[in-house]
Amino acid sequence: MDVELRELMQAFVLSDYQVQEVYSRFCLEIAKGLRRSTNSQSNTKCFPTYVQELPTGDEMGKYLALDLGGTNFRVLLVSLKGHHDATVESQIYAVPKDLMIGPGVELFDHIAECLAKFVHKHNMSSAYLPLGFTFSFPCVQAGLKEAMLTRWTKGFGCPGVEGEDVGRMLHEAIRRRGDADIAVVALLNDTTGTLMSCAHRNPECRVGVIVGTGCNACYVEHVDNVDLLDAQFKRKEKQIIVNCEWGAFGESGQLDFVRTEYDNEVDRKSINRAQQLFEKMTSGMYLGELVRLVLVRALERNAIFKGAGNRRAEYAAILQHNIDIFETKHISEIESDTFPELANTRRIINQLFGIEKASVEDCQKLRYICECISSRAATLVAIGISGLINRIADRKVVVGIDGSVYRYHPKFDTYIRNTMQKLVKSDKEFDIMLSEDGSGRGAALVAAVASKTK
Ligand code: BGC
Repeated sequence: MDVELRELMQAFVLSDYQVQEVYSRFCLEIAKGLRRSTNSQSNTKCFPTYVQELPTGDEMGKYLALDLGGTNFRVLLVSLKGHHDATVESQIYAVPKDLMIGPGVELFDHIAECLAKFVHKHNMSSAYLPLGFTFSFPCVQAGLKEAMLTRWTKGFGCPGVEGEDVGRMLHEAIRRRGDADIAVVALLNDTTGTLMSCAHRNPECRVGVIVGTGCNACYVEHVDNVDLLDAQFKRKEKQIIVNCEWGAFGESGQLDFVRTEYDNEVDRKSINRAQQLFEKMTSGMYLGELVRLVLVRALERNAIFKGAGNRRAEYAAILQHNIDIFETKHISEIESDTFPELANTRRIINQLFGIEKASVEDCQKLRYICECISSRAATLVAIGISGLINRIADRKVVVGIDGSVYRYHPKFDTYIRNTMQKLVKSDKEFDIMLSEDGSGRGAALVAAVASKTK
């Protein structure tokens, strides 16, 4: 790779020292999050989820599930069939942009409307249906079915929801319509859904991770280490799933020594400034934008598209004025492209920036930029996962993962494993498994646990 570009991208390459340092700071933050006396100063809130039982595989029953928190909103009907088996029917609904930032009541009315349509379509309008709500935002839980939103993330910003119980808001929206007999029996985070759905198939699963629009993880912790948890929840069960909300890591400056000017710029333009800094370096909502910002700089320094001649100003303008034009899915497409033609990369460059017939060299440069940004993201995710695995007493730990970045990026899994090899304690064994529909199957499993607990 040419020297100029290599120099430019150096800021994204984490040295072994930096990896170790981020790892130590992350572990400290989780420890602070779990302790009652230090939780308020911690970025990673380590919310107890009140899910204390992992699935046995024998769960049975029909459950509705809702999944809100990624790019799409989904309604699902999950039939748990015992023998580790489940079937899922689902329908995707759009969440119009204005609803993402409009009054919260309107968002919940929209959700209830989609729910009613779904139930009607499946001829279940008169049946009683228990529902598990996968609501993938940071929430303080008081039990399995109460979850108070602490802050919106991922571009959502509906007024009137922060500080409120989202289970109650959904319940009220369903009641306002009055055309379905649905009871919200459990609220969960998508990471919890991921962990539960993987544990349903593999009993060694102890960690659930999402690297999608947002980024977060949960894990199974011993109740004695969860100082935040009231004594009544420590009597019967000895474990609990803790939702780390690691996306917020870095808000006290712990990542400043590795953050770049591009990370600052992404943060400056976001609707949740100074928040979710780890998430802004690792998740699908932001990685594409990081690539665009680097491209702007590379073009300014004449480190890419050198052959563009007098059209450089035009390309620079396109790149500068079209925020979010370069999406994270393009990173996955470019890194999946095949040598030597790199035809897909050339097509993307043409389609997005109007640059026809980009040279092989330029295609390779863009690929290199993508690689630096995605491998840094994977390294950071691996640091977090390793920190959690090293807290768990079991010798073997399986990690369930989902999310568009992990799922569609050709090398994310390899990048993660490489860093984990260096950080996971040598007496431990780990494996990673892709989750099959955590938000659906996982929600039904938590709803099944909730019904049992009741
Ligand atoms: C949210 C988490 C969620 C993650 C992945 C983050 O923005 O705060 O609750 O698990 O995105 O969807």
